[in-house]
Amino acid sequence: MNEKSYLEIRIQIEKDALFSLSQIETLNELETWRINTLGRNGKVTGLLRGISDLPVDSRRKAGGEANSLKNLLTEKYESQKSGIENKENNVTGNGPELLDVTLPGRSISLGSLHPTTAAVREICQVFESMGFQTIEGPEVELDKYNFQKLNIPEEHPARDMWNSLWIDRELPDGSRPLLLRTHTSPMQIRTMESQSPPVRVVVPGKTYRYEATDATHEWQFCQIEGLAVDKDITFANLKATLEEFARRIFGDKRKARFRCDFFPFVEPGAEVSIDCFKCEGDGCRVCGNTGWIEIMGAGMVHPKVLAGVGYDPEIYSGFAWGMGAERIAMLKHGIDDIRHFYSNDMKFLKQFS
Ligand code: DAH
Repeated sequence: MNEKSYLEIRIQIEKDALFSLSQIETLNELETWRINTLGRNGKVTGLLRGISDLPVDSRRKAGGEANSLKNLLTEKYESQKSGIENKENNVTGNGPELLDVTLPGRSISLGSLHPTTAAVREICQVFESMGFQTIEGPEVELDKYNFQKLNIPEEHPARDMWNSLWIDRELPDGSRPLLLRTHTSPMQIRTMESQSPPVRVVVPGKTYRYEATDATHEWQFCQIEGLAVDKDITFANLKATLEEFARRIFGDKRKARFRCDFFPFVEPGAEVSIDCFKCEGDGCRVCGNTGWIEIMGAGMVHPKVLAGVGYDPEIYSGFAWGMGAERIAMLKHGIDDIRHFYSNDMKFLKQFS
């Protein structure tokens, strides 16, 4: 045999083998193919043996060609084999099952409400059941609403109660009146400006203070404001509403205490506390040994505030309150540091779902 006919035979074997391989669908057929092609007496093996019949100077090239054919067909064989095996396992159920129905399912991790969100919803629901409507307002606020119309004029020392984050943005008139709201109270004004009495709203939302953080202070937190304005509203309505709120959130037995406090937009203003649910008023760590826990600020809407939005203070009166949502959640769940709420620590957050 000469080199030329040897190479022709090689090409023919390749063509035949690849064609018959392409027709194969079962492992049995494939095994027969393997024996006939690559087996000890197979065609490729015969081809390799035939090298010795060639003239010496043709053997090197012929050997290379024969070996590359062997490698090619072995590779095709392996991939055909795994293709058929996969198909049989999946489709016909022969061989080992790939689907093990006894395996426990993968658990889907469900999200849960952030403890602040949960507290806001619970608190708002209590007031909704008393006829208040929940609304929201802007976090970027005007000086006019955050301060001035709440009876806190420019340069007034009462502004020191709220360390503000001002926004460095000039309006066309040259003023820079924008800030991140320091409390939700501006929504009292926005609400009254947009409707006539009677008003009953509760306003949850984010608030911001330029403050160093510690266990009880965050620079961002959540407040819940409330406002009721109508004819004949008195301090007795304020007390009844807020006392009822305290009982619904902290338990039937709670007593509320109202003590004078100053907020420029109310008169009289009050600090509202509840008797300590932990020690029932005896004094403990939760209440700082006083027996009382402060939960919010409140008061009767200042006549100047009513007049400022066009409500006649001779006809209408109202009460308002503001509380920290995180503070309520901290008290309810015994959380000792407000910074947990903003640390994005899943171990903390998942405890309240
Ligand atoms: N806005 C007050 C604050 O952030 C809280 C507050 C006090 C709101 C008395 C009120 C109120 O509506 O009547 O400190």
